[in-house]
Amino acid sequence: MRIAVTGKSGQIVTALRERGKAAGHEIVALGRPELNLVDPTSVFRALKEAAPDVIVSAAAYTFVDGAEQESTLAFAVNGEGPGAVARTAKVLDVPLIHISTDYVFDGKLDRPYVETDPVMPAGVYGASKLAGEQAVLVEHGSNSAVLRVAWVYSPFGSNFMKTMLRIANERDEVAVIADQIGNPTNAMDISDGILSVAKNLIARDDPALRGTFHMTASGEASWADFARGILAVSAAQGGPSARVKAIATADYPTQAVRPANSRLNCALIERLHGVALPDWRTSLEGMVIPLHSIFV
Ligand SMILES: NC(=O)c1ccc[n+]([C@@H]2O[C@H](COP(=O)([O-])OP(=O)(O)OC[C@H]3O[C@@H](n4cnc5c(N)ncnc54)[C@H](OP(=O)(O)O)[C@@H]3O)[C@@H](O)[C@H]2O)c1
Repeated sequence: MRIAVTGKSGQIVTALRERGKAAGHEIVALGRPELNLVDPTSVFRALKEAAPDVIVSAAAYTFVDGAEQESTLAFAVNGEGPGAVARTAKVLDVPLIHISTDYVFDGKLDRPYVETDPVMPAGVYGASKLAGEQAVLVEHGSNSAVLRVAWVYSPFGSNFMKTMLRIANERDEVAVIADQIGNPTNAMDISDGILSVAKNLIARDDPALRGTFHMTASGEASWADFARGILAVSAAQGGPSARVKAIATADYPTQAVRPANSRLNCALIERLHGVALPDWRTSLEGMVIPLHSIFV
């Protein structure tokens, strides 16, 4: 497959470049300046030139706290940008996979969310991503899959895993929130899932394969559990380690409210697309942490 993906250096873009290439696909990563999500003309031109078999919409404004202040920018990038990508996919007559988030939910349910649960973002970032989902489904719903992912980590870009390793390199103890739970998901596994969904969308003209799906690792964790897992793997590989002190959300105020329950039920994508991502602990333990890239 020839896959055009929005964004150049993001976690999922970079992982998709690696996993896609390893699986024999051509990955064309398109980011600023040639593709800027706030400039629909650039979106159309860059994607048309790439002549893809499928488009993956992975770029986003991902600064969750910053979005509270920069809501106009967040909505332009995360809401209108994917709309422009979807219009282009429709003109080019190719399937679109759009990446969205658990933050479309407010986290008040006491079980993992299913796709049909009512959406209710708690902050601007989640609201802007919801606007993007809706734009994609309005513009190109007949040939799009919206994949909601969560708690993404990887050796690339900024993420919780790299933050924990940096802090552990400097201190003996790290304070981590223990009353928010979710599914920590490796960007490499997300990329494998995207490749499977892309193949299905190209091969089968089946409406059941289109629409909204949850796609995270299986198994759940609090941020504190996740931190303990990361630091155990790091210690086993000769990297930094630290004690994890469990704290409450109330002890760590942030600008944006985050869901207490971010867990997503992924039964639908397993049943319809045959995609089941590994358990988060298995995936984390199988990862060689590129310590050299974390401390540069
Ligand atoms: N990270 C998570 O925990 C998480 C959780 C749930 C869902 N998601 C979703 O997963 C997707 C990928 O996330 P990620 O963690 O890989 O993101 P990331 O590492 O923050 O990367 C975001 C990418 O978007 C690009 N971008 C930002 N504004 C742009 C614009 N105006 N035009 C073109 N490109 C632009 C960035 O380009 P530059 O490199 O030029 O900055 C970067 O390549 C996003 O849709 C995000 O909402 C992420």
